Amino acid sequence: GIKVVTIGGGSSYTPELVEGFIKRYEELPISELWLVDIPQGKEKLEIVGNLAKRMVQKASVPMEIHLTLDRKEALSGADFVTTQLRVGLLDARAKDERIPLKYGVIGQETNGPGGLFKGLRTIPVILDICKDIEELCPDAWLINFSNPAGMVTEAVLRYSNIKKTIGLCNVPVGMRMGVAEMLDVAPERVHIDFAGLNHMVYGLNVYLDGKLVTDQVLDILSSGASMTMKNIVDLGWEPDFIKALRVLPCPYHRYYYQTGKMLAQQAEELNEKGTRAEVVQGLEAELFELYKDPTLDIKPPQLEQRGGAYYSDAACNLINSIYNDKNDIQPVNTRNNGAIASIPHDSAVEVNCVITREGPKPIAVGDLPVAVRGLVQQIKSFERVAAEAAVTGDYHKALLAMTINPLVPSDTVAKEMLDEMLEAHKEYLPLF
Ligand code: G6P
Ligand code: MN
Repeated sequence: GIKVVTIGGGSSYTPELVEGFIKRYEELPISELWLVDIPQGKEKLEIVGNLAKRMVQKASVPMEIHLTLDRKEALSGADFVTTQLRVGLLDARAKDERIPLKYGVIGQETNGPGGLFKGLRTIPVILDICKDIEELCPDAWLINFSNPAGMVTEAVLRYSNIKKTIGLCNVPVGMRMGVAEMLDVAPERVHIDFAGLNHMVYGLNVYLDGKLVTDQVLDILSSGASMTMKNIVDLGWEPDFIKALRVLPCPYHRYYYQTGKMLAQQAEELNEKGTRAEVVQGLEAELFELYKDPTLDIKPPQLEQRGGAYYSDAACNLINSIYNDKNDIQPVNTRNNGAIASIPHDSAVEVNCVITREGPKPIAVGDLPVAVRGLVQQIKSFERVAAEAAVTGDYHKALLAMTINPLVPSDTVAKEMLDEMLEAHKEYLPLF
């Protein structure tokens, strides 16, 4: 049987994953699922773990669920390791989202200053896990959902010895479902050529039953159709901009193409209901109350209120295709290897890949359209400098990353935010 280890197993998202594994059990016989967490997460781990046990029992699937605080014990002999951790928990996310707003800058968990700081906190922890993997399960695949997933994948590729790593996100799944809704068809009939970076991915071509429908989809989008994630408000696109762009943007692109409007919206929401982290804290409290109910033995539908809804589809399909050497096409974060011409070969990109037993084989894109190429390159430079800052603890690298981020207006504002955020997060930034 297959041994899967999920680090950050106490996450409210875990029932998504468990549901996905249960659905695919015949093809993907996972005999052991180890949910690992840290001591502060013990209570959540137990609540989620017990729900997971009830779910497999209800489904009569012989998957053992193990709960542990001992990462090394869990990792020994693993086939797949998934990471879904949040260093500093939602309180740290709230700071990432709140502090930049004081400076008139977008406050978001994976973009701008918030994304930088989430990376600075997360990368050293993931690299530690990489060392454990090297020692205890060197043949395992490391599948990372921890944000910022693109920057984390970049760091693992550059600064660890783990080559079998993939970064994963539900944005492409969400875009496919959004397009299917626009066209009023089943998502399976829609195919999108994805290329770019994590949370910076574009749909270069869109197909329905194999026929190109990009222009039709962009027309529908520009006439006001909504395509978003639960965590990103949709304020509508400028119709002529979408027509001019000629590729499908992802919901996170609104922070770049509609910065002023998004900023005003964030400021308003901050007053009304606090940051997204604080909203999510409320949702999580409700979710954990539900999870505690001993009669609950399925994934509760309320989980779909989270931005990460359906991420298990991406995760389970990926693991399934590696295990069964399916050679199907899925968008993942992996080493570019020349697939996108204007991005370094050894950098992480989010691109459609053929998924094989030996991992993802990126499908060549050639160059990105000139209109989007520069932004993608700029964000890649930001991610690289940020990853370097995270592993070195170098103040100047961190300042450089902050300043070159396109959402940050100046060197001075960058430095002020950097200093305030370094202080706010110092507990979780031992290298600085
Ligand atoms: C999207 C992103 C995830 C992110 C999530 C946040 O789904 O792809 O990377 O974690 O949104 O959702 P939340 O409900 O926590 O705001
Ligand atoms: Mn994501």
